[in-house]
Amino acid sequence: MKTNYDNPLRPQFHFTPAANWLNDPNGMVYYEGEYHLFYQHHPESTIWGPMHWGHAVSKDLVHWEHHPIALYPDHNGTVFSGSAIVDWNDTSGFFDGKAGLVAIYTQTEMIPDSDLSKQRQSLAFSKDNGRTWIPYEGNPVLIDERCADFRDPKVFWHEETNRWIMVLAAGDRLFLYHSPDLKDWTFASEFGAQDGSHEGVWECPDLFALPVKDGDDAKKWVMIVSIGDSEKCPEGSRTQYFIGEFDGVSFKNDNPAESVLWLDHGRDNYAGVTWSDAPDLESKRMFIGWMNNWKYANLIPTDDWRGAMTLPRILSLRQDAEGVRLVQTAAAELEQLRLGTREWNDELVEPGNSLLSGLTDGLYELEAEFELDTAEEFGFKIHAGEKHETVVGYEVAGGKLFIDRSNSGIIDFHSDFGCRHEASLRAEDGVIKLQLWVDRSSVEVFADEGGLVITDQLFPLEGSHGMEVFAKGGTVNLRSLRIHPLKSIYVSKATEAVGQ
Ligand code: FRU
Repeated sequence: MKTNYDNPLRPQFHFTPAANWLNDPNGMVYYEGEYHLFYQHHPESTIWGPMHWGHAVSKDLVHWEHHPIALYPDHNGTVFSGSAIVDWNDTSGFFDGKAGLVAIYTQTEMIPDSDLSKQRQSLAFSKDNGRTWIPYEGNPVLIDERCADFRDPKVFWHEETNRWIMVLAAGDRLFLYHSPDLKDWTFASEFGAQDGSHEGVWECPDLFALPVKDGDDAKKWVMIVSIGDSEKCPEGSRTQYFIGEFDGVSFKNDNPAESVLWLDHGRDNYAGVTWSDAPDLESKRMFIGWMNNWKYANLIPTDDWRGAMTLPRILSLRQDAEGVRLVQTAAAELEQLRLGTREWNDELVEPGNSLLSGLTDGLYELEAEFELDTAEEFGFKIHAGEKHETVVGYEVAGGKLFIDRSNSGIIDFHSDFGCRHEASLRAEDGVIKLQLWVDRSSVEVFADEGGLVITDQLFPLEGSHGMEVFAKGGTVNLRSLRIHPLKSIYVSKATEAVGQ
């Protein structure tokens, strides 16, 4: 299969499949120096269809090597989302007393003459570092005929109770199970029927503990839950999280049931979960999400591939005035892509000022610190061309960080794509700090030291790679600005043939 990584919309430092359809990240596990990334994949089309697990491997979370498909549909159905773990002590008995990799995933089978499906959980194991997978002959290992939506198992080892825990999406809530050996599962509890947002079906949960920075360093448990698209909701599919306690049986939400915490305030970060068994899990809980939205996922105007992942991010917890909150930081490994740094300090930005109008490179990381002055609005115009631009700005009166992609280029594939959306951001001591990662068809904005993240896809017209810093209705002081042009992860293999 020929793959043209030089296509003008092909992300240059985000993971994409060599060709065809990609949705959720699956089975993320670290083992013997390799990060494995599996993903929902339709190998014959750029439209969602019978799901397989695509597979890629990386040593640095930045450069990925494509591998053959890991899991194919079989007599139990197609292969939906799930997780993978290292079975260090061979609790499953698959590995002759040694360690090995086990994938736990949903298999979906249509019920004949209906549009309903049966969803059950299955296992597959690998004795050769994830290169080949053997579905377990006793599949499926977990069935519950009560729920039609019963999927996306995330499994981890719970030290305190010495057993595996599975958290699973079951319609509008989560079910938790435990097991000594990954094969026999016992129902433990349920969570969420009354908690958080229920604007869509619940999918792709994750559950893990992290220490709280700036608190008393006690640990808190984080439950991540993605919620599907609903026609009523212009935001489409998105991801929420809960902070609480987990005792090996049930999860207890620390916040009032009606409180909703969004993991990302953009439109394009869905179904994200974290890597299992990665080094320094407590300080480096690595997350990656699908950079798309079910509202228009099948329609985005890319060529022979459809779908990308977000940047890999480290998750941590911080004690804020409002409570414990999730903080995201782009993985430090991305620094290797920097081609250098251009720097400005103490520039007064005024309407009409075009500090960066000479910059036309579409790939960069940018770090900026603004000090409020008289401007009503300020920020950056990115992927700017003669007629189009995307605005990443701060609106002072309302205290809102926004992305306006209503004139960003190709937007006509769905009526909800071309929008402006915003999130509240306080200017601490009159200062706004932003970090932007601009790839050919996306922008990720980190504000409030990672406490607020906005991830959006953009489809600029060819040649629209200009950028500008702007102020409206007055001036703003740009205390510092550093731009790091980034090299493509394909530098040495642009337009090369990649076999699948
Ligand atoms: C989330 C999701 C999962 C499911 C998979 C199917 O995006 O709907 O719930 O397992 O995608 O591809």
